[in-house]
Amino acid sequence: MIAKKIKFTSFDDERGSLVAIEGIKNVPFEIKRIYYISKNKKNFRRGFHAHKNLKQVLICVNGSCMVHLDNGFETEEILLNNSAEGLYLENNIWREMYNFSDDAVLLVLASEYYDESDYIRKYDDFLKFINKEK
Ligand code: TYD
Repeated sequence: MIAKKIKFTSFDDERGSLVAIEGIKNVPFEIKRIYYISKNKKNFRRGFHAHKNLKQVLICVNGSCMVHLDNGFETEEILLNNSAEGLYLENNIWREMYNFSDDAVLLVLASEYYDESDYIRKYDDFLKFINKEK
């Protein structure tokens, strides 16, 4: 398994649903940054990168999307369609997001501020990087 899912408590009642997430307590890092992906156009894949240090939790808070993961040894296709569930991605994982539903909103919790130098944007460089790390 390349990445684990984290189950959050969902407070559901007649008004709807509320999910609360706290750094360290519900996700395994202090949250320094959040961003979200929405208004997705069909047939576009996003991502195509890995991170040297950054850890993230991906939550599809509305709609659904697929996530392709690759750790250099195996790949996985994961469906995200539950707003009370997060996908925990450690560093050194190549990811691509695809098949976004029209209404999909993908929320990302990140352990660090945005840092372009933490990105590995070429798949060949990713394979070289993880082989060096071993
Ligand atoms: P990009 O890396 O292309 O997104 P994805 O990984 O989903 O393919 O990011 C799109 C733009 O947003 C790019 O110009 C960088 C910018 N950006 C930030 O400024 N801060 C952030 O935290 C992130 C994730 C992206």
